[in-house]
Amino acid sequence: MTDSNHGDIFNDDHVKPFMPPDEFKNNSQVNDDSLYREAQKDRYAFWNRMADGLDWIQKWDKLIDDGTSPYFKWFINGKLNVSANCLDRHVENGLGNKKALVFEGEQGDSVEFTYTELLKEVCKFSNVLKNLGVNKGDAVTIWMPMVPEAIIAMLACTRIGAIHSVVFGGFSPEALKDRILDSKSKILVTADGAFRRGKTIPMLDSAREELEKCPSIEKVIIIERTGTPYNKKDNRDLLYSELIAEVGENFAPVAMDAEDPLFILYSSGTTGKPKGILHTTGGYLVGVNATFRYVFDHREDDIFWCTADVGWITGHSYIVYGPLSNGTTTFIYEGTPDYPARDRFWELIEKYKITVFYTAPTAIRSFMRWGSHIPAGRDLSSLRLLGSVGEPINPEAWLWYHEHIGKGRCPIVDTWWQTETGMIMITPLPGVTPLKPGSATKPFPGIDADVVDDRGNSTEPGQRGFLVIKSPWPAMLRTLFEDQERYEVTYWKQYPGIYFTGDGAWKDKDGYFWIMGRVDDVLNVSGHRIGTMEVESALVDHPSVAEAAVIGKVHEIKGHAITAFVTLKEGVEGNDELVKELKSHVGKRIGAIARPEDIFFTYELPKTRSGKIMRRLLRDIAEKRELGDVTTLMDPQVVASIKDKYGEK
Ligand code: PRX
Repeated sequence: MTDSNHGDIFNDDHVKPFMPPDEFKNNSQVNDDSLYREAQKDRYAFWNRMADGLDWIQKWDKLIDDGTSPYFKWFINGKLNVSANCLDRHVENGLGNKKALVFEGEQGDSVEFTYTELLKEVCKFSNVLKNLGVNKGDAVTIWMPMVPEAIIAMLACTRIGAIHSVVFGGFSPEALKDRILDSKSKILVTADGAFRRGKTIPMLDSAREELEKCPSIEKVIIIERTGTPYNKKDNRDLLYSELIAEVGENFAPVAMDAEDPLFILYSSGTTGKPKGILHTTGGYLVGVNATFRYVFDHREDDIFWCTADVGWITGHSYIVYGPLSNGTTTFIYEGTPDYPARDRFWELIEKYKITVFYTAPTAIRSFMRWGSHIPAGRDLSSLRLLGSVGEPINPEAWLWYHEHIGKGRCPIVDTWWQTETGMIMITPLPGVTPLKPGSATKPFPGIDADVVDDRGNSTEPGQRGFLVIKSPWPAMLRTLFEDQERYEVTYWKQYPGIYFTGDGAWKDKDGYFWIMGRVDDVLNVSGHRIGTMEVESALVDHPSVAEAAVIGKVHEIKGHAITAFVTLKEGVEGNDELVKELKSHVGKRIGAIARPEDIFFTYELPKTRSGKIMRRLLRDIAEKRELGDVTTLMDPQVVASIKDKYGEK
């Protein structure tokens, strides 16, 4: 842990809460404190009731096995299938003709699937996978643009019981390779290319070389999205469209144990190697199903739009599994908010009559900068509820969102959670909770969150500490894929038996949580998690670089901007050319989201006498602050020299 400023006192006396509007409250799923009281009385009885809302092939005999902390098990001996819960049961319940998935492409093309149609497509792709030898427990990697086939492939994996590993389409082929090697996937589902702001970006062809280094991959299934040329590799590459044309439309869902793995999702941590976060079947689905229903106040005629990519946990939980397990219509858009024009999102809300809109603060800050006249030009009257996720939302952005998008009418649910938690953990219930802009408010019923000091004692109101979860919850990660030691050390060592989130936070006198961001070496760039070590490893891997230190400099739109301080090898000259080369090198190793915004060359990095890089000092320099304590520095000259150089820029 680094950089905790204990002892800071915060207060929110200036904040006037926003009460749920009467009209909203009177029609909402919950409008009193009954859920909180139920969960407070008996957390486990609450989760038991939540799980009863799903279709189980065999009911569990015991709710939780917590005897082997931190390896918790939920719904012991329960059997279910995720795709059957997301599709079949709605069709059986008469929702077959309801829209399940609505897609709009960047080019303005649109496709809609009813629950019956989506079930058919998922069954077909399950047959395809089965015919290619995919069985229960096998891993399948999905590296795709935001198109319906990505969701169909995910659901087909769950139908078979295969473990999906979705890799964000913006990650580079090298990052894809690392994740395939780690998960040992047999199959890659990908596309010829992706549309991006009117251009096409090759996908399969760009990954050609890296895929040669992936011995586990037996077949590559290609969705032809953009018509981008690629060389087809015989005996390996197969076309999605041809495969699904040859198979049947039925596929019986496989009965999965509640604790069978459902998916792996890689996320950044404090080392150079991404962590394979493993979620299992029953607990995950119970968690996302219940949180979706209550946090987004599920109503039958909702058109729900979560703007995340399916390659992140937000996409998994609140584009796919939460909405579909509740029988909601989920909307997805392939492109960016500013193409072809900066009102693209508002145009889509108007066109599809979106009722609930869930996005990230970084996007809201961009919208603010572009100007409120842009959303004002569109009809947003279909909206009734707004959400925010991914990073702390600054009160200014919250108020703008409330006024210019929600027109003062829509509550905002600021939802705190993580890839590891699987489901939303700290959040308002929109018909119940008075809102304070900038606070994620209170733990979801059944969630035992707290803010503690170094010794694990609860902090006083206004006192900064570390955010922890003190009791297990159903959608929690079960381990890190094939890395139990890292699982134990990262999450459970700090406070034995208590889950350590890696976030700093404080609580106010009303028990509201205020999240202050990461306390470890993980950055939040535009709502995406990037490990400083990952970027440093990518830089050091370049032949000219001797050493690198990466920090996040506060950035108005992105939250953090990646800034790198680099020492070069003897005889190498640092110039603008090399800066460009290093930026593109990081882009190639990880993906465009990890490209440093600024790179500075320095003859040494500031280190403590024990050799630890003092990132805090680099941050102070980058943000042009007075330098804190420098007495532990090995060579005080280094800082002066970096400051001089930084000042020159
Ligand atoms: O620092 C917190 C921040 O995002 C981290 C989790 O990142 P990731 O696993 O990529 O998942 C992002 C989407 C769930 C957290 O440790 N974070 C997420 N939501 C919020 C947040 N910080 C403050 N407020 C939030 N609402």
